[in-house]
Amino acid sequence: MAGGRIFRTTLALTIAAVCLSGATIAQAETDPLAPAVLRNRNGVQAEILPVGAIIHRLLVPDANGKADDIVLGFDDAKTYERYNSPYFGGIVGRVANRVQNGTFELDGQRYILDKNDHGNTLHGGFNPFFENNTWTVEEASDKEVKLSLFSPTGTQGFPGNLNVTATYSLNDDNVLQLVIEATTDKTTPVNLAQHSYFNLNGQARDNVLNHVVYINGLYVTPTDLTQIPNGELAAVKGTPFDFTTPHSIGERIRAVTFPPPIGGYDHNWALFGLGTDAASKTFNSVVSEEPQLAASVYSPQSGRAMDLSTNAPGLQFYSGNFLNGSVAGKGAYSYPQYGGFAMESQVWPDFVNKPSFPQSILSPGQLYRHVWSLKFYNHTAAPAPGSVQTTSLP
Ligand SMILES: *[C@@H]1O[C@H](CO)[C@@H](O)[C@H](O)[C@H]1NC(C)=O
Ligand SMILES: *[C@@H]1O[C@H](CO)[C@@H](O)[C@H](O)[C@H]1NC(C)=O
Ligand SMILES: *[C@@H]1O[C@H](CO)[C@@H](O)[C@H](O)[C@H]1NC(C)=O
Ligand SMILES: *[C@@H]1O[C@H](CO)[C@@H](O)[C@H](O)[C@H]1NC(C)=O
Ligand SMILES: *[C@@H]1O[C@H](CO)[C@@H](O)[C@H](O)[C@H]1NC(C)=O
Repeated sequence: MAGGRIFRTTLALTIAAVCLSGATIAQAETDPLAPAVLRNRNGVQAEILPVGAIIHRLLVPDANGKADDIVLGFDDAKTYERYNSPYFGGIVGRVANRVQNGTFELDGQRYILDKNDHGNTLHGGFNPFFENNTWTVEEASDKEVKLSLFSPTGTQGFPGNLNVTATYSLNDDNVLQLVIEATTDKTTPVNLAQHSYFNLNGQARDNVLNHVVYINGLYVTPTDLTQIPNGELAAVKGTPFDFTTPHSIGERIRAVTFPPPIGGYDHNWALFGLGTDAASKTFNSVVSEEPQLAASVYSPQSGRAMDLSTNAPGLQFYSGNFLNGSVAGKGAYSYPQYGGFAMESQVWPDFVNKPSFPQSILSPGQLYRHVWSLKFYNHTAAPAPGSVQTTSLP
């Protein structure tokens, strides 16, 4: 009897030791909801959840070397699955942003989508990719995690089977890069966007109004009251949308009263000098295009800074206007209005109904490839925004 007890004790200790040394691997094998953890030698750490390919936690050291989690979210994976109305952290699609009246025509056929936002479709409809889908972890190391998702034909009303992969990688230059790729067996629109909310002071620290922003875009696409673009381009020069020189988010936000009643930044910027010539930009066929600097943000308070580089033609910059303290996030913290900002690189909103906008219609044999790449650094060490032509990529 005693021998049996000793055996069991020894076994338990052995299992505990194995679990402690290989916690991530053991969890990933037994718990399909466990995060994959990316780490670099500077103390940057990213936790990626199979649910929605969500960036659950992102630890970045500040100017004093103190690491904080800088993305908004929930404490556990199950909460994102059950309820994620602010779209924290994940990849939204099949067509991110808005589609007017929840309908579009392609190759002579009309498609009907979910109407989940003022009579329009937002982020694909009632089941945006990340909310109710667990992706498959294909490969995981502490430098890279590759996830895949199969989206059968008819998902959200879209044609074609769609195979999607999302690969997050982290290098020792503090570059966290996401590459989203997709293939289809029937021509279909694709626009997959990362929807993380950031607070460079730390995710539960008040609001981001003091963050300073640079955006590499000369035009925004004005919208109607339901945030559907009217098809025109408005020059940002001389307006609160001009971030071609750095401005804090809070400086002019009160002047952004449209759309009522809340106002604030929630608009699409045409990136990289794109203007009325943008229709020539067919996103899914420019897969060889390298990412360029789209935006830079820093917090004078923490000194944390980040550059976003992308190959997408647009950037939805959202200042967290709709957060209102009703969502209990990590540690039961209630994120207030402007409690985080999102930098969603993507194809322009409602492009499926706007032939003058850049298009992302994927056909069989083509590869959709969207790069969303963040580089973290200390503001004091930063080159002036706009002077950065290339960001070091892994
Ligand atoms: C900022 O500087 C501190 C102190 O040198 C360093 O520990 C930290 O890694 C730096 N953070 C980033 C994001 O580069
Ligand atoms: C959406 O409905 C409005 C009002 O009926 C109409 O003017 C507009 O053309 C429709 N747009 C699309 C893309 O169906
Ligand atoms: C996700 O699934 C749950 C349970 O089936 C459901 O209640 C919820 O509405 C779904 N969420 C979305 C956004 O579809
Ligand atoms: C999607 O993946 C499945 C399974 O690997 C494969 O059989 C199919 O051919 C793929 N389809 C496309 C369009 O890539
Ligand atoms: C706050 O936001 C939630 C979720 O978006 C919404 O349901 C609720 O009505 C809002 N509350 C107020 C007071 O605006």
